[in-house]
Amino acid sequence: MTEKIILGIETSCDDTSIAILKGNPDDLNTPPQLLSHHSFSQEMMLAKWGGVVPEIAARNHLEKIAPLIKKAFDEAKVKVEDVDLVGVTTHPGLLGPLLTGINCAKTIALMHQKPVNSINHLYAHLEAIHLSTPIAYPYIGLLVSGGHSMYLKVTSPTDFEILGNTIDDAAGEAFDKGGKLLGLGYPAGRIIDDLAKSGDAKKYKFPISMLDSGDATLSFSGVKTALRNFIEANTESVFKMEDVCASYQEAIVEALNKKLAKAIEISGLKNPRIVVGGGVACNSALRNKLKNNYEHVHFVEPRFCTDNGAMIANYALRTYYHSLSFPDCLSLDARGQFVSKKEKLEKQRKGAKL
Ligand code: KG4
Ligand code: ZN
Repeated sequence: MTEKIILGIETSCDDTSIAILKGNPDDLNTPPQLLSHHSFSQEMMLAKWGGVVPEIAARNHLEKIAPLIKKAFDEAKVKVEDVDLVGVTTHPGLLGPLLTGINCAKTIALMHQKPVNSINHLYAHLEAIHLSTPIAYPYIGLLVSGGHSMYLKVTSPTDFEILGNTIDDAAGEAFDKGGKLLGLGYPAGRIIDDLAKSGDAKKYKFPISMLDSGDATLSFSGVKTALRNFIEANTESVFKMEDVCASYQEAIVEALNKKLAKAIEISGLKNPRIVVGGGVACNSALRNKLKNNYEHVHFVEPRFCTDNGAMIANYALRTYYHSLSFPDCLSLDARGQFVSKKEKLEKQRKGAKL
């Protein structure tokens, strides 16, 4: 098959992001060519609320999506008619924001008779590794973002098995909520990462629960409470913010590192390839620790770690043969469906509602 043009649309949370790429669905070992990629981050707008307000985020997507699409087509020098497939995040995410992207994808599909691929945002985060480094299957995926933290065994672009998950907060949430307690602004992951660089990570102990649970289960709500207790017991004049950030970050990173070993054990793979994706994969301490401990660890490029349209277009390309024709597709799902695309298509064939 020849190269195909894919339009990717991402609006699951607070980033509106559009990408157009060119790639060959029969040659998934060659990174696709990114023709254009434009995003609008609502970080600044949402900072004053201290987090994402779904209703406000949805309105911002609505305002930004059309100009971003125009910009993306202009830069890529392709026309809507040239697009072979539209990929859009349908799950998981915030319902209002998801609706904006899905409506946009459906409109393009309807008007131009294009097929659409409904994209699982979580799988797209991990598979974004292939935008720069082709990785052979199987691999262990560590997905660490603002909303999710999990270990997966990935055996093909459509086969993901969960090895471990968080029972409460995600790693990114722990960074963001911790940063809020420390008055550092939103989102706080990058800020804590920067401050921690000149702090002492061994200065304070912030305990993490579930570390000895014997499985790959994560839990981050306790560490945030430990930080709150620490702040209440100590005024800022008696601690150095850099030390607190470094110690708090170390607790989160060490938990991810320790449970990765468990996830590998559960997977049955020996010395596997590891792929780390999602916003928290930008974290420098996490990168250093995993690089020191594992031989075959690959990090998604930082620009493709936080929510972006390129990872959606890329995953649509990788699941090209599983695309659904309008209008047989595209309902949305806040929580995400952990069934493979194959199962989904099977269900659809049997007439079940997706
Ligand atoms: O993947 P993402 O854009 O959104 C979700 O799908 O949830 O991830 C956003 C998360 C935020 O919690 C943010 O604080 C965190 O990624 N993050 C970081 C860093 N950069 C972004 N966390 C730790 N260190 C960083 N350098
Ligand atoms: Zn994400």
